[in-house]
Amino acid sequence: MHTDLRNRDLIGDLDFSKEEVETVLDVAFDLKRKRALGELHPYLRDKVLAMLFFFSSTRTRGSFEAGMAQLGGHAAFIESKTTQISHGDTPKEIGEIFGRYYDGIAIRHVDWKIGNGYINAVAEASRVPVLNMQCDIYHPFQCLADIMTIIEKKGRDLRRKKMVVSWAYAASYQKPISVPQSLVLQMPRFGMDVVLAHPPEFGLMPGIMDQAREQARKFGVGFEVISDKDGMQKAFKDADVVYAKSWGALIHTENAEEGARIINQYEHWITDEAKMKLAKPDAIYMHPLPADRDVEVTSAVMDGPNSVVFDQAENRMHAQKAVMALTMR
Ligand code: CP
Repeated sequence: MHTDLRNRDLIGDLDFSKEEVETVLDVAFDLKRKRALGELHPYLRDKVLAMLFFFSSTRTRGSFEAGMAQLGGHAAFIESKTTQISHGDTPKEIGEIFGRYYDGIAIRHVDWKIGNGYINAVAEASRVPVLNMQCDIYHPFQCLADIMTIIEKKGRDLRRKKMVVSWAYAASYQKPISVPQSLVLQMPRFGMDVVLAHPPEFGLMPGIMDQAREQARKFGVGFEVISDKDGMQKAFKDADVVYAKSWGALIHTENAEEGARIINQYEHWITDEAKMKLAKPDAIYMHPLPADRDVEVTSAVMDGPNSVVFDQAENRMHAQKAVMALTMR
C-alpha cells in the first residue's frame, strides 16, 4: 500500500493512483469511526488551511472547516472578492504568499476555462499542498465521498455493479460539468460498469471522455454512453447506483441564453419514483447537492428509502480529513 502522500496536491481525480485512493479511503473510514467513538485525532494540530472561494458553497466550506478543527487545526475562510486578487494579486502571489502562511491551500474556482488553470498556477508557486475544492473540470473531493458512500452501501467488491451517471433537468443555472467528469474518471478503477446518459447537447470534454475510456479498458469494466433525447429511462434499467444531476451544455455552447433554451427542452429528465422503479429494487440514488427539488429530482425520491444524499454530504468531511491528514502533515 502506498501511504506517503505528504505535500501532494489533489487537483485532478487521477493525480492519486488507485492504490493512493485506497489509502485515502482506509484513513477516511478510520477517521469516521474515531469521530463516532469520540476518539480525538489531532493529526494536524496547529496547522492552518487557507480556503479560497471564488464561488458559493454549503457543504464544501462546512466540511473542510469542521474537518480541520477536528484534526486539531484551523481553516481560514477567504472569499476572493474580499482579497486584493482583483487589484493585482496573481496566482503566483497567492501560491507564494499563502504557501508561506498556511500549511495547505484549498481553492474553489468553477469559472469555465479558467478555474482549473488558476488552481494549477497557484500550485506551481506554492510550497504547500493545493487541494481542489471544485473547478470547471474536476470535483475530486465529491468523488472521494461518493466512492466511500457506494462502498458503505454496496460493499468493497463493486465489480459488475452498474452505475448510471445521468444528466437531469434543472432550471437554476448552467451547473459545472466537474461532477460527472470526476465520476467517469474514478469509478471504473473500482470495478463498476459506468453508463453515462445525457441529451445530445450535454456531452463532456472530449479529453476527459478519452481518459474515462482508457480507465475502463485498463480496469476491464464497461463504459457506455447514451446520448439520446429520451435516454434517462434506458440508462436506469437494472442500475445498482443512480447518480442523476444537472450540468450545463458548456461543450455545445458557451452562450448562457442558448444553454438555458436547450436545457428547457428536457424537463422530462427528472428522477422520479417511476424511473427509479426501472433500477434494481435496492438501487441507491445519489446527488452531490444542492439539487433543484421537484425539478431535478422529486422529493419522494430525494427523501425516500433509496436516497443516500445525506450520507454523501457527511462523507465529504471524512474523505477530506483523510486527504488533509495525509498531505499536510
Ligand atoms: N456538493 C458540493 O460541492 O456542495 P457545495 O456546492 O454546497 O459545496
